[in-house]
Amino acid sequence: MTALEREAAALQERFGGPGPVAFSVSPLGGVVATLTIGVASAVVALQGAQVLSWVPRQDQPDVLWCSPLSRLGSGKPVRGGVPVCWPWFGAHPDAALALPAHGFVRAVPWTVERVDLGPGTVSMTLGVSLTAAQQAVAGELSARLRVTLGADLEIELITTNNGASPVLLTEALHTYFSIGDIAAVSVTGLEDQSYLDQLTGLDATQSGAITFDQETDRIYWDTSGKILRIRDEALGRSIDISASGSASTVIWNPWHDKAVRLGDMPPDGYRALLCAETANVGPRNAVTIAPGDSHTLAARFKTAKI
Ligand code: BG6
Repeated sequence: MTALEREAAALQERFGGPGPVAFSVSPLGGVVATLTIGVASAVVALQGAQVLSWVPRQDQPDVLWCSPLSRLGSGKPVRGGVPVCWPWFGAHPDAALALPAHGFVRAVPWTVERVDLGPGTVSMTLGVSLTAAQQAVAGELSARLRVTLGADLEIELITTNNGASPVLLTEALHTYFSIGDIAAVSVTGLEDQSYLDQLTGLDATQSGAITFDQETDRIYWDTSGKILRIRDEALGRSIDISASGSASTVIWNPWHDKAVRLGDMPPDGYRALLCAETANVGPRNAVTIAPGDSHTLAARFKTAKI
């Protein structure tokens, strides 16, 4: 038995039993938990507490896109699924070169804390704490991620301030949705919202639905309460994204040239993915957490045939 197989077997004994959670070593190289309830399944990697796959019905394609070039345990985050950007989103505002983009926890192991069964649902909760050196940068924060699989998928990112001073937090559930063809996809729900175009640095206002014919990297501000719909003509599917504790939405597609620069996805992979990220992005939508308080960022995904 390899060390990873031993780890999966120990987790299976502690949390799995004969129930709806099975721990195994993924072909991507790390330990994952497969949650199954009814006809739905989801795969969660312990690395980064990253949901890698969600299949609401076995006769449907995966709702999440994952790069075939990514590996767990490589020291790099997996490009795909739902990376957890925490405790900051994007470049660190004061130390962009010294600190990793999107925070500290995408490529580190999280700890499985519990598995819970509800009526028609199974949930798994994972946790992570910052090291002392990381706390010096980001504050005395810890995070939990709860994934709940039922007819829909819900992901909650719960941040607790364990320190004595208020802490400023930015974050994202950086979801890579799998789509049939980026040229035949639209996103509604953000009409008339103001956004920062990260490619030009300019502010703009959304007119109509969002469609894609080039690299797109936008932070939509003040999107609390908005329900997004991805309409995927090629797959004949819509995906609704509703959120709570989220004031920003990021819409990203790297297109061809950035996909090549990134190097961890196939050059044409951009055609099959769309990132719609449930977020709190600074400075405008940063969250302040008082000592002893917690904040929950949650996203719920629902699919339908169109
Ligand atoms: C998006 C950002 O959220 O994440 C983009 O808006 C960034 O600017 C993208 O390129 C991917 O980031 P990373 O660190 O996973 O390559």
